[in-house]
Amino acid sequence: MAMAISALRQARWLSRAGVAAVVRRGASCAHYPDVLPVRLLHHGAVASSSSVVCPPATAAVYGTLGAPDQVLRLVQMDAQELKDGEVCVKMLAAPINPSDINRIEGTYPMRPTVPAVGGTEGVGVVVAVTPGVRNLKVDDWVIPSHPHLGTWRTHIAKEESAWCKVGQNIPVEYAATVSVNPCTALRMLEDFVDLQAGDVVVQNGATSMVGQCVIQLANLRNVQTVNLVRDRPGVNEVKERLLSLGTEHVLTEEELSKLDKKSFLKELGSEAKLGFNCVGGSAATAVMKLLGDGGTLVTYGGMSKKPITAATGPFIFKDMRLRGFWLGKWKSEHSNEDFANMTNYLLELVRDGKLQYATEKISFGDFSIALDRAMGKHGSASKQVLVF
Ligand SMILES: NC(=O)c1ccc[n+]([C@@H]2O[C@H](COP(=O)([O-])OP(=O)(O)OC[C@H]3O[C@@H](n4cnc5c(N)ncnc54)[C@H](OP(=O)(O)O)[C@@H]3O)[C@@H](O)[C@H]2O)c1
Repeated sequence: MAMAISALRQARWLSRAGVAAVVRRGASCAHYPDVLPVRLLHHGAVASSSSVVCPPATAAVYGTLGAPDQVLRLVQMDAQELKDGEVCVKMLAAPINPSDINRIEGTYPMRPTVPAVGGTEGVGVVVAVTPGVRNLKVDDWVIPSHPHLGTWRTHIAKEESAWCKVGQNIPVEYAATVSVNPCTALRMLEDFVDLQAGDVVVQNGATSMVGQCVIQLANLRNVQTVNLVRDRPGVNEVKERLLSLGTEHVLTEEELSKLDKKSFLKELGSEAKLGFNCVGGSAATAVMKLLGDGGTLVTYGGMSKKPITAATGPFIFKDMRLRGFWLGKWKSEHSNEDFANMTNYLLELVRDGKLQYATEKISFGDFSIALDRAMGKHGSASKQVLVF
């Protein structure tokens, strides 16, 4: 964990009511010079004139596992002297993903050691380097190469291998979100079945960032998608948005249950070869209904927190396959270079206008508002991206 625990102990822990006030104070971090001219270190120690210091950071920290809106606090961390080989990164933007919520709740398989800074994804700019740094320089944009950095903070000091360089001619909200959801969509389309033009993929949770990417990446391969969404007031607007991404089929679960399956399959030309499930419960069963002989259902999330229910018949008579996907495993089995190639490919699509998804940028100062939205307290919301 990058953060010195001693620094955290020194940090002021804040009541929820105090968050706004402190964030206003934290906002003055933006006025800290990127590399402190005065070498003030932890506990007021003074470094030699050759040392490089990462400025004090404002961070969203949790000291125990639990409901994120109860356990997260905005704290100010001490300035940190960089070790040789480390860089200081000033964060530009970072999303709040469902897995970030799960990690803090303690329901994610990887239990973080607390205290910890929230957030796994994001983009930042290098503001200081040490002499041993080989591949990064000041002003480079970087994204984390592994998920343990704790990105919900204004500054991070970490070795250069913790970062992957990305180009700058891209909106920050895309650079900040490319490394998890678009990668997941791409891997699931590439790694399970050999999809050919005209094939059909069916998915639930189609409004998610992964779902939006699936539609567009499939479309680029001339693969059709059938997209299932939750019913809600204004569902037609949601459907229009997904249709505009390049699919012809967006249905609620209820609409699917009432569908004349025979004529729908005739319209599609075939049953689905591949299905994606990030919801569970009856929404997973709905995906399975459209899978054909030997069809594969890939589960990658469990937003409803309900187990998958599958009918017996399709297993026996259709040899249906149930698989799972976790990007963390993919990353552990591939090099940083493979990961960089994948993110560069996806960012190129963004630059070319071939990949887009809905985000809502929100100031780090409004962290608690963003968190409430990301937790669905006010109903469905676009991906919340904190801007520092
Ligand atoms: N396995 C992996 O490696 C991997 C990688 C990336 C993401 N994921 C998982 O993929 C899923 C989507 O992530 P994301 O970041 O793309 O999502 P997102 O953009 O944050 O959107 C959240 C999605 O979850 C749906 N949702 C929220 N609460 C729900 C509930 N109670 N029942 C059913 N649906 C609900 C939302 O539907 P509405 O629009 O109807 O609200 C929306 O589609 C998550 O489960 C995430 O953990 C897994």
